Amino acid sequence: MTTERANFGTKLGIILATAGSAVGLGNVWRFPYMTGQNGGAAFLLIYIACVVILGVPCMLNEFIIGRRAQANTARAYSKLANGTPWRLIGLFGVFTGFMITGYYVVVSGWCLQYIYASVAGHLNGDASFVKNYFDTFAAHPWKPVLWMLIFMLMCHFIISRGVEKGIERASKLMMPLLFILLVVIAVASCLLPGASRGVSFLFNPDFSGVDSKTFLGALGQAFYSLSLGMGCLCTYASYFKRDTHLTKSAVQIVAIDTLIAVLAGLMIFPAFFASYPDAASKLADPELAGQYSGPGLVFITLPNVFQQAFSNAPLIGELVALLFYSLLSLAALTSLMSLHEVSTAFFHEELNISRKWGAGIVTALCALIGVFCSLSYGNTREWLVFAGQSVFSWFDFLTGQIFLPTGGLLTCLFLGWYVPKQIVKDELTNEGTLRGRFFGIYLFAVRYVCPICILLIFLHQFGVI
Ligand code: PHE
Repeated sequence: MTTERANFGTKLGIILATAGSAVGLGNVWRFPYMTGQNGGAAFLLIYIACVVILGVPCMLNEFIIGRRAQANTARAYSKLANGTPWRLIGLFGVFTGFMITGYYVVVSGWCLQYIYASVAGHLNGDASFVKNYFDTFAAHPWKPVLWMLIFMLMCHFIISRGVEKGIERASKLMMPLLFILLVVIAVASCLLPGASRGVSFLFNPDFSGVDSKTFLGALGQAFYSLSLGMGCLCTYASYFKRDTHLTKSAVQIVAIDTLIAVLAGLMIFPAFFASYPDAASKLADPELAGQYSGPGLVFITLPNVFQQAFSNAPLIGELVALLFYSLLSLAALTSLMSLHEVSTAFFHEELNISRKWGAGIVTALCALIGVFCSLSYGNTREWLVFAGQSVFSWFDFLTGQIFLPTGGLLTCLFLGWYVPKQIVKDELTNEGTLRGRFFGIYLFAVRYVCPICILLIFLHQFGVI
């Protein structure tokens, strides 16, 4: 029996599904707290530089490999690597995908709990009440695990329906909805009295706080936010059509992702500054990192911010909270789908089993990893804490700041120096039907600029230079 390989049906589907992978918790949860921790606008500028100089070429790399090979990530690298060790990059991507999924789905589950809590009115109370609410919930032995499992099953349901009927259809529905929600909340937030200080925090750069950590953070965030370095985009690109314009698609997706990150900033910081007169010092205070600038920003501070900001119309505050956590869940779901698809395609093609079985194995494995990540959060269980950090934090740090940039670096070296130039050019120009004006710049970026930048930032991070 020969089955034809699945494909995305339309151009719009390709853009929305791939942008759906990119736009996720990284934009709405991680980007604002990274920006908060690293001084606001200065971080934003460095981030944009990383996205343009490194993000676009690295995204193209994955598109080229995926569409050329028409196979899951591991096999795609292997096909182009002709048996050399370069093929291991693909497997490394699948492995990284499992680690990201493990904690990503935990945070996604929290979003569901918060949707429930905002409807039930459980988030009404002062700052310490909400902090307590989150801490108690996150450390609860089964509640976060239950929500995590529900989220995983939602994702499983979509993935097992296939590429066009599952991923593409869901993305076409969810992405526009997400965008509308984001714009509505951002406008509401910017209209609050005192919001302008938040806007200037995001757009007026202050370079005094910039150090090497800022650069590494921005680099990691660029890889993370664009879903680079672990084969997600390579897998999706294997479902692209032969006439998809790769360069144009990459630029569009990078632009959408960055726009959404900035909008998320415009949704969070104006409301934050409107609610706290001393917002800037709160963000800068390392003692308060867990609450105001760390992962807790979205789950501890924001519910309170919404309440305070709309204190003369509490119902609106509750509604905004509900919309916000729905938005966050949608964003998380489209990204989780792409993470799931990497391993589903891998098992489906490598073990020669049906797609549904492949998806089942992935869901079961990821749920298991998710349980450990969930239980480890907040360092409340000693057996899940290593060197002072929980499994959850380790996975976030290792994948976001080390593995993804490493995967991206290796892929640049692979495509720039190993894969024959003609293959790369053929893919980029759709077998010569496009002019390929940017081929030279792209090749230069992939051979020199990207590897050198990533290496320099790594070396600096580890104190070598
Ligand atoms: N890009 C996603 C986000 O911004 C996260 C992600 C990383 C998804 C890597 C897939 C692969 O949330």
